[in-house]
Amino acid sequence: MDLYNKVVAAEQFLQNLLPARIDYAIIAGTGLSDISEDITNPIEIPYSDIPFFPEPTVEGHIGKMIFGQIGHSCVLVLKGRFHYYEGYSMKEVTFPIRVLKTIGVEKLIITNAAGLLNPEWDAGHLVLVKDHINLHPENPLRGLNDERLGLRFPALNEVYHTELLNQAEKIALGFGFDCHQGVYVGLQGPSLETPAEYKYLRMIGGDVVGMSTVPEVIVAAQCELPVLCISVVTNNPFKDGAQTTIEEVLDVAQEAGKKIRKIILKLLQ
Ligand code: HPA
Repeated sequence: MDLYNKVVAAEQFLQNLLPARIDYAIIAGTGLSDISEDITNPIEIPYSDIPFFPEPTVEGHIGKMIFGQIGHSCVLVLKGRFHYYEGYSMKEVTFPIRVLKTIGVEKLIITNAAGLLNPEWDAGHLVLVKDHINLHPENPLRGLNDERLGLRFPALNEVYHTELLNQAEKIALGFGFDCHQGVYVGLQGPSLETPAEYKYLRMIGGDVVGMSTVPEVIVAAQCELPVLCISVVTNNPFKDGAQTTIEEVLDVAQEAGKKIRKIILKLLQ
């Protein structure tokens, strides 16, 4: 079956469970999925029930969608996301985005954990992504293009929605959070970067670096789905003796995730 028909099959399944319009979908990144606790009247849909939806590789982690209300907004939270480094194809990594668009999602909020490249900032800070640099070895739009899914050559100059970004920034600064606008460099991982690589990524214009988001944003651009992306800076590789560990990344993401949760709550109210 071709990609378009797989998307339609997923849509037809979800149509019976969800309203025709959803204000926001939220893709919760590493350690940042607490936002689903703010949903009232939640409906949970395991990924395994949705035709052709990928499933998380990590054992014991159930991928699921949680639909409901936050404030006045209809929201769909995606708990569990797919990274290229896990071995999924780019088409699998980005399949959820196509489904979100088809089921009537209006705006996409992506959160992620990222390493620091801008020496003026620090771990625990938040970054509103205004642009990205794609260093993944493959583009999710590679291959024959099905016009039913979007343009062959979609523009990427406006994919990060300025108005949403400004709104989020105002809210974050209102709370007194350390929050910046910046450029996210996306690469495949899963090994972290060498000191020379961190320096290089800064030199080419990056403020933060991570292993997700960019493929999803490219497909969101093709689907004409506006994106707000919030990164948590989880580690500062330029600190003396810095040795990034997954435990550190998760701890900081969990802590700073509370700030993201507050921002999103206010944004949706
Ligand atoms: N590099 C790449 N991805 C990351 C990092 C990093 O330092 N921290 C969190 N995700």
